[in-house]
Amino acid sequence: MEQALLEVSHLSKIYKRKGGPDFSAVKEVSFSLSKGEALGIVGESGSGKTTVAKMVAGMLPVTSGSIMLDGQPVESRRSKDTKRNIQYIFQDPVSSLNPRLKIKDILAEPLKLYFKLSGESLDNRIHKLLDDVGIPKSYQDRYPKELSGGQCQRIGIARALAAEPSIMVCDEPTSALDMTIQSQILELLQELQRSRGISYIFIAHGLEVIYTISNRVLVMKQGEVVETGATTQVFHSPQHAYTQTLIQSIPKIELPYFEY
Ligand SMILES: Nc1ncnc2c1ncn2[C@@H]1O[C@H](COP(=O)(O)OP(=O)(O)OP(=O)(O)O)[C@@H](O)[C@H]1O
Ligand SMILES: [Mg+2]
Repeated sequence: MEQALLEVSHLSKIYKRKGGPDFSAVKEVSFSLSKGEALGIVGESGSGKTTVAKMVAGMLPVTSGSIMLDGQPVESRRSKDTKRNIQYIFQDPVSSLNPRLKIKDILAEPLKLYFKLSGESLDNRIHKLLDDVGIPKSYQDRYPKELSGGQCQRIGIARALAAEPSIMVCDEPTSALDMTIQSQILELLQELQRSRGISYIFIAHGLEVIYTISNRVLVMKQGEVVETGATTQVFHSPQHAYTQTLIQSIPKIELPYFEY
């Protein structure tokens, strides 16, 4: 069998609470991710999706369990290359960009850090990245506040792409955006999946978003995985009562996506 790009085993997170009992937010979560695959994570609010995503992206310490990238264990102090390889796309695109930096300087950061680019090659790479995410070159001298939410998310995606990652962890990347902008951003992410073989861990509240983008889906409830499988299979014949409830709760207006 081909080795998975990412292998997460028995990942757990206990949040220590001052003056209260400790809280077990993620319990023994395991999954794998292949190259070019998109894994959706769904589940009610508080089920531990963001906690899993942040542990995978190295933004939150793991309580127990292991993460393997390309067959190698990911240490708690990540190497530069591991950091480069797993990038995060944030829910709130505007606040994820430093308001004091121009767009070109936001994109220059990972290019300097990971590839030591400077001068003309740096400028060219920035122009290419802007082009890749559908933002005019002239926007490079603007500040984030001069861009719309959707445009800021495109810059967030360009910043992640600048690192040339193998995995992008997307935590509700479109939920702060209007419907039409949401679908444009999803199309962009899908295009990148096709053209560059980037793998995604994709969290979304809207199940139709998950249905559109993910090959496989993980259903979480109270910190545990209750169901996992191919997206079409899980959506068309959910096995677990909780998954059935989740799918039944999709508003009718979103149903055209499901091709029933
Ligand atoms: N820093 C923290 N300290 C203590 N508890 C936390 C902390 N962060 C999250 N939690 C708790 O852990 C649980 C899981 O939170 P998490 O943010 O991972 O859920 P989620 O599935 O992403 O929810 P949502 O869909 O609302 O984004 C929740 O009960 C939350 O209150
Ligand atoms: Mg969350």
